[in-house]
Amino acid sequence: MSDAFGTLLPRLVTPVPGPRSHALADRLRAVESRNVTWLADDFPVFWEEALGANVRDADGNVFVDLTAAFGVALPGHRAPEVVRALEAQAGRLIHGMGDVHPPTAKVRLLEALAALMPWPDARTILTSSGSEAVEAALKTARLSSGRPGVVAFQGGYHGLTLGSLAATSRADFRAPVAERLYPGVVHLPFPVDTAPGAGGPVGRDPGTAEVGAVLARLDRLLDSGTPGGPVGTVIVEPVQARGGVRPLPQAFARALAERARRHGLVIVADEIFTGLGRCGAPLASPRVGLDPDIVCVGKVLGGGMPLSACVAPARVMDAWPASDGEALHTSTFLGHPLSCAAGEAVLALVAGGLAARAARLGEALVSGLEAALADLIEADRVALRSMGLLIGLELREADGRPRPGAGAAVAGRMLGRGWLVLPAGETGAVLELSPPAVLTGEQVAAAVRVVEEAVREELP
Ligand SMILES: Cc1ncc(COP(=O)(O)O)c(C=O)c1O
Repeated sequence: MSDAFGTLLPRLVTPVPGPRSHALADRLRAVESRNVTWLADDFPVFWEEALGANVRDADGNVFVDLTAAFGVALPGHRAPEVVRALEAQAGRLIHGMGDVHPPTAKVRLLEALAALMPWPDARTILTSSGSEAVEAALKTARLSSGRPGVVAFQGGYHGLTLGSLAATSRADFRAPVAERLYPGVVHLPFPVDTAPGAGGPVGRDPGTAEVGAVLARLDRLLDSGTPGGPVGTVIVEPVQARGGVRPLPQAFARALAERARRHGLVIVADEIFTGLGRCGAPLASPRVGLDPDIVCVGKVLGGGMPLSACVAPARVMDAWPASDGEALHTSTFLGHPLSCAAGEAVLALVAGGLAARAARLGEALVSGLEAALADLIEADRVALRSMGLLIGLELREADGRPRPGAGAAVAGRMLGRGWLVLPAGETGAVLELSPPAVLTGEQVAAAVRVVEEAVREELP
């Protein structure tokens, strides 16, 4: 058994959460807006240190992180290449003037990012969070298409800032500010492939419909327009991540490309979760047959630093006028030198085999889970969906409907045993695994065992 922090199996030295996490929760309750962190008797643990696939909490408990902290730490927590780049950059320049006198690190990052894109002339707007990259993409698509209307999908998650929230579909996120959200966004059901084993039974998964039905609705919308005007933008995740790990069917992606050509639509691929190796390739769009005009990336990009990007070919991005001295879309921390240095290190990893490693580990985890849960999968109590190292297990009732809250219940059981996982899906029926691509064979085997145990306890 490995003895190095980063490659350990869970080591719990107190009940979870331990006394220090409880004490920190009390302090936090007194100073943070109450909506932000969910505080309960059995949740959360407060992180003190992380390396590779391990996290140590304030009580000294060691966890295996199967979330990569919202999908970010694909190269592992504190990947040595990222740490070295940060140390070197911190010794020279921490903050610059991103859109005025730019740091040299910004140029190197943008060149490396352009080299990974499907166009020879990629142009980028750098941002700090995923939501901001989506804001930049929605503005760019509006300018480029010349039309205000937006098509998005049920179950889609694009962020919580006002512009991106208009494209995010979940009612509870939207409700507090519903009247402030741009009304020209129409959410279509997410298309599901009805081929055996492909996507799951239509109609039982909330917010989904069969590919042909969604296309028919799209066509009607292209004729009628949205309440904000004619449709110019379609924003879609190649695999809905927080929506429950639902890949976009190839047939839909192909039909969308044909309509985009015919109607001059701008397709925005939100690859904030799926991009930069997570799905076993630099981008997930080609894997589902999506041919985007704009790509948003984030999460993995900054190696743990806040960094995201909206990238498009010149024919799309040049809808923005050339700067006349005042950038029309920028921010104080655009092109932050530390984030750019970390991002450059991450992109070298992505170009150098990180995606292939994610693909291999994904296969190992999925084949282990398929074998361990074969009877439940056969009985339609569990649906396993995945692309690369983005894996979702949807837990279902005996009648095949997704079992609300089951993903959260399984995640709770696993936390108590030293495993960090998150639920996903509109009703929390999905257990989402998005681990770092540094899990050892021993960690993979143990992960399969603990997922199996926790799932069987939830579905007796
Ligand atoms: C697909 C997708 N888009 C956008 C976002 C928003 O990113 P952020 O939380 O960094 O604003 C997320 C976050 O999970 C995401 O998964």
